[in-house]
Amino acid sequence: MAATNSDELRGDWDPSEPGTMADYPAAHAQLRATAPVAWSEKWGGFFTLMRYADVAQASRDPEIFTATKMTVIPSSPRKGLPRLPLQKDPPESERYRKALNPFFKENRIRAMDPALTALADRLIAALDPAAADFSGGFVEPFTQGALGLLIGLDETEALEVGRLSHLYVHAVQGEDLPTAGDLSRQVDAFAVALVDDRIASPRDPKADIVSGLIANPPEDGAFTPEELAGMVRLMLIGGHVVPRNFLCSIAWHMASHPDHLALLRARPEVEKPLIEEFLRFYSSNQALVRVTTKETEIGGARIPEGCPVALNFLSANRDEAVFENPMEFLPERKPNRHLAFGIGPHMCLGLALAKLQARILLSVLLRAPGLSIVGTPKWARWTEYGVTSLTLDLRARA
Ligand code: HEM
Repeated sequence: MAATNSDELRGDWDPSEPGTMADYPAAHAQLRATAPVAWSEKWGGFFTLMRYADVAQASRDPEIFTATKMTVIPSSPRKGLPRLPLQKDPPESERYRKALNPFFKENRIRAMDPALTALADRLIAALDPAAADFSGGFVEPFTQGALGLLIGLDETEALEVGRLSHLYVHAVQGEDLPTAGDLSRQVDAFAVALVDDRIASPRDPKADIVSGLIANPPEDGAFTPEELAGMVRLMLIGGHVVPRNFLCSIAWHMASHPDHLALLRARPEVEKPLIEEFLRFYSSNQALVRVTTKETEIGGARIPEGCPVALNFLSANRDEAVFENPMEFLPERKPNRHLAFGIGPHMCLGLALAKLQARILLSVLLRAPGLSIVGTPKWARWTEYGVTSLTLDLRARA
């Protein structure tokens, strides 16, 4: 039941309930039909927008749905660096997006292709083909390598980020919030130290994001060290955790759907729509949060002022009002206007990098002598989605 009056509120769903976690898309489908603005009593209480139209409307309306109070639920028990631009509304957020944009442009990302392909080849060659730890031995170092190239980290820095991200992912997935909070502080400290280092010894402003942001200050004034660290901070976790689940989900899907692997092998032009369908189907950033600045109505429900509201991108991407046969994976789906990267003023900056990583992964999978799943993969929990831990047998089938 959708809540319309705060006195009548009751829980429509609990994202951490085992039945729901076992099949988020099925739980969402039911809620879209019965409680599209779903109330949950968890974590202090919050609404979730399940329908595409409502997620798009709230994402585009920062005056009513602000990102400045909270962007994830449960929020980590810490006060630390702001995540920039995510935790600012326009026009303030534009200061950061404008400055970051050149580093995420397609030609800069395309130039990373040879180095990332070489990294992928090295990583795959080092795996045990009979029981390849695909998530830990391939996807994790691959996404960290990509992030290192994007930001301009040296090897020691990249290894430390990798270590912290690995521990952070496991703490979040194990719902160990105190440890996640502690690690989050360590990631903050890393970002602050990185900025201090680049202020003292600037590097190539084209290859190194922080040096570039310092060398080309915005018209409305140079960034403070805290602003610089806030931008690095957002990239360090956002640019690693979500792509990890996305890439593991692609590998899992291809191992469980040999017909889709054969289709791509036979018709390489399918790659583009296939990657869009992976994004729609395995929207690995399941949800992000805004807070209402005043009482409002959306999707037929009344939401009081100051209430956390989750934008459920995964559910929006299975909305039957927008997608034909939304529960079916169609490699050549067209049109495919998914919201996996969000929409509006905070739409993902890293989308070209995510797609490049997907392309390189697909070429690795196509070249593998065999592809089958070993054991039972682990799936990510709210606020993420998709396969997070995966072992593969890469040997040719007898
Ligand atoms: C499949 C992989 C990815 C997915 C599904 C994804 C998804 C998203 C989503 C849903 C948002 C927020 C939209 C909103 O709040 O309205 C976002 C924001 C963002 N993403 Fe990604 N992302 C991915 C990969 C990456 C990568 C590799 C980076 C690289 C650092 C990145 C950097 C960012 C940044 C900086 C923002 C904040 C933009 C802003 O606040 O203006 N993302 N992403």
